[in-house]
Order: sequence, then structure tokens, then C-alpha cells
Amino acid sequence: MKKQQIMILALIAFFMVISGCGEKEKTTIPGDISKEAETQWIIGMSQCNLGEPWRVQMNQDIKNEAAKHTEIRVIYKDAQNDSLKQRAQIEEFISAEVDLIIVSPKEAAPLTPPVTAAFERGIPVIVLDRRVLGDKYTCFIGADNYAIGEAAGQWIVRILGGKGRVVELKGLMTSTPGQDRHTGFREGIKDSEIEVIFEADMKWLEPAARREMESALARFENIDLVYAHNDPGAHGAFLAAKAVNREQDIKFVGIDALPHEGQIYVRQGILAASFEYPTGGKESIQTALAILNGKNVPKEITLSSRFFTLENIEQGGELIR
Ligand code: FRU
Repeated sequence: MKKQQIMILALIAFFMVISGCGEKEKTTIPGDISKEAETQWIIGMSQCNLGEPWRVQMNQDIKNEAAKHTEIRVIYKDAQNDSLKQRAQIEEFISAEVDLIIVSPKEAAPLTPPVTAAFERGIPVIVLDRRVLGDKYTCFIGADNYAIGEAAGQWIVRILGGKGRVVELKGLMTSTPGQDRHTGFREGIKDSEIEVIFEADMKWLEPAARREMESALARFENIDLVYAHNDPGAHGAFLAAKAVNREQDIKFVGIDALPHEGQIYVRQGILAASFEYPTGGKESIQTALAILNGKNVPKEITLSSRFFTLENIEQGGELIR
């Protein structure tokens, strides 16, 4: 074919694509979002990061549940732990006019305006695991972080015989699980002689927890226990203690209890306990379908949680509360 003919064919093909000609019932939405024939609804999902096993599990739980329903298609975005990027993702979902948004926000304050904007435009928003401020969203799904922190505190009081020196490695304190796991824990230990001798924000990250624990170890000769707001944090603290041969003197407690992470640490004797934090991925899709089908859903769905120790892990842990 001559160059000129190729050009003409390419132009025809281009106009066919932009006019929708030759494509059965296919709606094209800006960006990477397109509707297949059998798909009725597009769900935009913004995940705050995929750098941690727990978040990868959440997306997997969403995918497994969504795979059962051909009427929905989920578009995934990873904000790479950047609140500004996550804001932009939600704004993109709004301009693409997706049918529903699921968001697991990095931080409460910066993510509130785009969630509010979507909600006020009539796009249902499911907020998963970490909260936003106010009540301009359709449904919040998550476990009760205050109750988990409190249960962890009460368990720690028991295991230490009511007395001891504790390091608290906090999750990102601009995110609500960090805040609630902290205040719940303080409530849980309030009538004991437990002393929190060192506390730091490790931002949910294992390397940061390890660094903070190195400082705690350098400052304090006697540490009885580390309460970390997640299992990667507890594991980072364990590694710091191990590096100076002090891991046998200290107990480590974390939160998440993924079967392939925290629960394994408990079996290996690295963690004395891990408190489960369910991802809510499956429930988010079930709730999304209910909303899209015009059903009323509760404003708040609270997931139950279990805790695991070497004593109860073979029986599948124990229910909190
Ligand atoms: C993952 C994570 C989990 C934690 C949750 C809290 O990013 O840090 O380990 O339980 O977020 O939102």
C-alpha cells in the first residue's frame, strides 16, 4: 500500500473509533476507563498504597468478590502513599462519572474534600478502613480500632501482671486507625502500673519502626514490651532488638494478623500476640452492589476482629469483646 492510502485508512479508523462506530455498546470514559457490554457499573477504587501486605490483601479481597459479579467492573488506582495523588485520583473518578467510589484514604483531612465533592455530586462513596472527617460519604466499613487498641491494652496488662515498661510505636497519627489504636490502648492500660516509656510515630512503616526502636533501645536498658499499631511495625521493632541481642527480653505485640504475616510471626514466637484487622475488601463490594441496586445500606459497617497468641492460634484465635 502506498503511504497516502495508509494515511487515509488510519484516518478512517480514527474517526470510527471516536464516533463509536463498529463498537457494540461500548461507552468510552476519559482515561483508562471503558465499559464493556455486560458491565452495568464502573467502580473506581483508590488504594492509599500497595507497599504493605495488608493493602495488597485488601485489593485481592476486592478482586475475589468482584470476580463473582459481571455487572461491575473495578478500576484500581494506587496513590503510592501520597495524599495529593489520592485526591487527584478521586477527582479523576468524579470527572469520569464512575458509578461508585471505594476509597481507603491515606489521611483523614486531605481526603475529606474530594470525598465530599463526589458525595455531593451524587456519586456514592464507600470509605474503607481509614476514615475521612465529617459525614459526607455513603458508608464507612472497618473494624473498631478503638476496641482493638483497648483489647490489646487489657491483654498487655494481663500478660505483664499489671506492671511494666512499654514502648508504643504508633501508626500514622494523621490517619484515624493510628489515633484510635492509641486512645483505645491508653484506656485499656489506665488502671494498671504500665508505664509507656517511649512513643513514636512510625507511620505504619517497618523501616521507620525499626529506626524508632533503635532509639528506644539506646535510651532504655529495660523494656518489657513493644505495642506496635501494626505487624510490620512490631516486626521492625523485633529486628532492632535482635540486632543487639535483646529480643528475648522483650515481648512484641502487633495488629493486622494476616495469615501469611502476623499469624506466622505468632507461630514463630516473634510476636506474643497479633490483633486482627480485617481488610473489608469483600464487604466493600457486597455493599457497593447493594447501593447500586438501590438498596439502603447502613452508614457504618463495623467488622469483627479476633486476636491470636501461641495458645489460641490452633483454634483460630479468639473474638475480641
Ligand atoms: C497498611 C496499614 C495496616 C494497618 C492499616 C491501618 O497500610 O498500615 O497495617 O492496619 O493500614 O489503616
